[in-house]
Amino acid sequence: MQRTAHNRRSDSGPVSSDWGEKSHMNYIIEARDLTKIYESAVQVVALRGVTLEVKPASFLAIMGPSGSGKSTLLNILGALEVPTKGQLLLEGTDIATLTDDQRTLLRRRRIGFIFQQFNLLPIFSASENVALPLRLEGVPAAEADRRAGEMLELVGIADRRHHLPSQMSGGEQQRVAIARALVAGPAIILADEPTGNLDSTNGERIIGKLRQLVDEQQQTVVLVTHDAAVASRADRVIHVRDGVIVEDFDPSHGMPASGTTLEPRA
Ligand SMILES: Nc1ncnc2c1ncn2[C@@H]1O[C@H](COP(=O)(O)OP(=O)(O)O)[C@@H](O)[C@H]1O
Ligand SMILES: [Mg+2]
Repeated sequence: MQRTAHNRRSDSGPVSSDWGEKSHMNYIIEARDLTKIYESAVQVVALRGVTLEVKPASFLAIMGPSGSGKSTLLNILGALEVPTKGQLLLEGTDIATLTDDQRTLLRRRRIGFIFQQFNLLPIFSASENVALPLRLEGVPAAEADRRAGEMLELVGIADRRHHLPSQMSGGEQQRVAIARALVAGPAIILADEPTGNLDSTNGERIIGKLRQLVDEQQQTVVLVTHDAAVASRADRVIHVRDGVIVEDFDPSHGMPASGTTLEPRA
């Protein structure tokens, strides 16, 4: 199949996942035996064999203590970090078969990432930050600006649209980061503690919106949270501890009895 790095979106709907050969897609994300070892001053094994399959149009919450590997897992699922060992398929495509440019395009077109540290561009206004994913895909400035405005409205900070990140509170920056992640309608939304800096009203508003995107737009959400109330809105909750999944359950069936853990996969 002919592919080019220059093809543009021709409409405002989700882009096609035109990444070559793929098996029939039962899962939008398939991670097999992910291991991540950081070779810093001391060696840190952040993930030790995580296998995870995520259904399309589902909402997965990841919980676990600080340092257990949640952000590392999310970054690998978003093809931002490369696992030391293991395999990742996104929409049926093994990302190891993609060139760096293809991986960048896949991230840009198919994934919306809400980072724990926001990662807003400091010299751009709120509105410019939100418009950026659209501008990178060739959406004209006026339309990108209009859609950015709608997203800022949605997250409740339209009145901050001309502010720089440095002129906003942590919670406001977080909402800009959320608006930026959602603006292009990505198939996969990865969110690292997206409500961590928000009051309960705004947190609930964001989670309600994510729930709606899953239920009505068939987008897929994977979200890291410490908040059991947030996790209870997911279809599935996994608990990570010391780099392995130790619990995996449907929160509508209640939380697992304390002490219940899965044996880590061999
Ligand atoms: N870039 C890095 N270099 C070295 N160690 C890292 C790096 N990123 C994370 N770690 C370590 O990996 C482990 C898991 O980190 P992380 O995935 O951020 O955990 P969590 O998000 O659950 O708090 C921690 O021990 C952390 O210190
Ligand atoms: Mg983290």
